[in-house]
Amino acid sequence: MSEIAKIDALEILDSRGNPTLAVTATLSNGVTATAKVPSGASTGKREAVELRDGDKSRYGGKGVLKAKGHVEGEIQKAIRGFDANDQKGLDKKLCELDGTPNKGRLGANAILGVSLAVALAAAKDRGFPLYASIVDEPANLLPTPGLNVLNGGKHADSNVDFQEFMISPVGAPSFSEALRASAETFHALQRVLHKKGYSTGVGDEGGFAPQLKSNEEPVELILEAIQKAGYKPGKDIAIMLDPAASEFFDEGKYVFAKSDKSRKSPVEMVALYKSWLQKYPEIWSLEDGMAEDDHLGWISITKELGDEIQLVGDDNFVTNPEIFHKGIEDGIANAILIKLNQIGTVTETLDCIEMARSNGYGAVISHRSGETDDTSIADLAVAAGMGQIKTGSACRGERIAKYNRLLEIERELGSKGRYAGVSAYERRKKPVKA
Ligand code: PGA
Ligand code: ZN
Repeated sequence: MSEIAKIDALEILDSRGNPTLAVTATLSNGVTATAKVPSGASTGKREAVELRDGDKSRYGGKGVLKAKGHVEGEIQKAIRGFDANDQKGLDKKLCELDGTPNKGRLGANAILGVSLAVALAAAKDRGFPLYASIVDEPANLLPTPGLNVLNGGKHADSNVDFQEFMISPVGAPSFSEALRASAETFHALQRVLHKKGYSTGVGDEGGFAPQLKSNEEPVELILEAIQKAGYKPGKDIAIMLDPAASEFFDEGKYVFAKSDKSRKSPVEMVALYKSWLQKYPEIWSLEDGMAEDDHLGWISITKELGDEIQLVGDDNFVTNPEIFHKGIEDGIANAILIKLNQIGTVTETLDCIEMARSNGYGAVISHRSGETDDTSIADLAVAAGMGQIKTGSACRGERIAKYNRLLEIERELGSKGRYAGVSAYERRKKPVKA
């Protein structure tokens, strides 16, 4: 049995230049591992609390020295000597130590850093990669990626209200070929934008962030890029959307403040998506199409479109097993977005994935818009065996690090490995009825 001997934390920067934590766990036999914590911008209201110092004289109040203090003080004291292989026990202890329902006392950033660092150290100690160490069943499914090649909403200084336009290489024979097709399409999109005189600067997740004429234009541009790259839209490469609708929901209306200034009721919003899906059969997945506070809107979109496409809940489920369970009972969405730092421990994250699996829901493992070079979510995606990951565009080092890690896992799995490809897509590709 390897015990936790030491936990320390460092205040580092994330991909937006904001402070975050790197937590290092050292075991009694000297094995060490470090986890780095991500940070979102379009956060759900019920996410676990990311503890920030609030001291305006440092990083505009965003410092994480209090969280660092909690890791090295109270948390270290409580878990020193604990069995590093008992992840469930450790995570339970961390939750109890915090004592609040949202991890607001010690900070979900502090708690996740510790939970993940110990998971990584335990894997290393046992001589397993993380993807093989955190689940009992042998994991061999490489996920279909969703690459966010056009950024809008809160992730870009542009006039596009919808946050993410992703390409999904469903038709590729392997993960590495999927990544190649995606990178080639990303480069083709750059040429398409350049030719039209649009900016090719990128947003937070590495997608382009041009000023466009409408929320629909990105879809047209991406379809053109897929073809220019030599692929068939909808067959080789499909499209996934994350409008992140909570960000533009105001007093019962969806307000397109960045583009045409229109205000849409939930009914009109569902009708808009339906018209897009009829026009663009290449779109197979819609995340946060409705706002987290628009419960009736979520019920209605699930009734209208839930049999035909994947409807992913992010802000409304916040990777929280209890909240997700209620959502399943209410018949909302048919898939969940999984973000470790929305809930704050490895165990609760795995619980959500298991809940999705046992209820016939999909699960998409996800990065945050503020990231580091930590690649644990690539391993988590393989361990989950749910066949989907979204971790940004085909550029920016913190996004590419995860895709590169999946290439390593693909090589490691060799002939045992399988690419998810079309499997998730097949589940949901019935044509959308008029
Ligand atoms: P966030 O965005 O990390 O800024 O929350 C990602 C998403 O909405 O999926
Ligand atoms: Zn989202």
